[in-house]
Amino acid sequence: MPFPIHRPRRLRRTEALRGFVSETRLSVRSLIYPLFVCPGSQVKSEIHSMPGTFRWSLDKLVEECKSAADLGIPAVILFGIPETKDEVGSGAYDPNGIVQRAVRAVKKALPRLIVICDVCLDEYTSHGHCGLIKDGEVDNDSTLPLLAKTALTQVEAGADIVAPSDMMDGRVGAIRKELDARGHTQIPILAYAAKYASAFYGPFREAADSAPKFGDRKSYQMDPANQREALREIALDLEEGADIVMVKPALPYLDIIALARCEFDVPIAAYQVSGEYSLIEAAARNGWVDRERTIRETLTSIARAGADVILTYYAKEVAQMLG
Ligand code: PBG
Repeated sequence: MPFPIHRPRRLRRTEALRGFVSETRLSVRSLIYPLFVCPGSQVKSEIHSMPGTFRWSLDKLVEECKSAADLGIPAVILFGIPETKDEVGSGAYDPNGIVQRAVRAVKKALPRLIVICDVCLDEYTSHGHCGLIKDGEVDNDSTLPLLAKTALTQVEAGADIVAPSDMMDGRVGAIRKELDARGHTQIPILAYAAKYASAFYGPFREAADSAPKFGDRKSYQMDPANQREALREIALDLEEGADIVMVKPALPYLDIIALARCEFDVPIAAYQVSGEYSLIEAAARNGWVDRERTIRETLTSIARAGADVILTYYAKEVAQMLG
């Protein structure tokens, strides 16, 4: 006969009581702010399908990183939009490529900010795929040395963490081996371990002009129907030397985040991707949802599911909200 002895509403009565017993607290200290860097100077160009998110030229990028750091955001992840693209994605592993230059500039201005580099070829290939094309297919093994080279040039430019997002088999091992052989034994790998072939990446592909020119990414990114396979992907990446593993997207895959948290003892990252951002923006602009509450609720849910760190385009705003 629990009622009237037990009344769960007792602890919900005031803001102070609710805050006091809150099980999940968002913290600015666990946020990663994704940023797009493009050629030119004094460029801050809004991404059409991601209103409020921009492509930044190097000079502007450094200012934006500074304002993020001033808000207490510990880390940024950089995505490059190169001047030109080619079949083999040379811009990704050019020691003077857009991201390598960006890392140098940001680390020089903000040595304490954690700079993470996305390791992938898709922003740099003319065909938009994450690997080399052989006989009309994305070839796994010939792509690995290029990913390793990409990570190495980023680390040599000063990157603190590298984050492979390509989903080629064996890439974490290939990167770890290359970094270790060059003496970079202390650089962590944040592996996009359970990355699904998702419709939610649409706006990002507009931002980076990286939509595949033929076919899709289903032969390397995961099938949204699969849960057990995510655990296997994570286990493989950890065996190969990953230090942090990511689930991506976040909100449609909270079950994967929760399972990963239970099964593995490493830090789990989750990426609130471009489409998750744009959905909220579109609905908020129509007056259909309360923007700030939706941002808070989605991010709180991602943290509650078990994410230790969260990548979000809302990082600066959340820092302001929490501040
Ligand atoms: C690949 C990459 C993608 C995203 C991050 N890294 C796009 C893709 O796989 O097509 C998507 C991130 C987002 O949608 O916010 N370099």
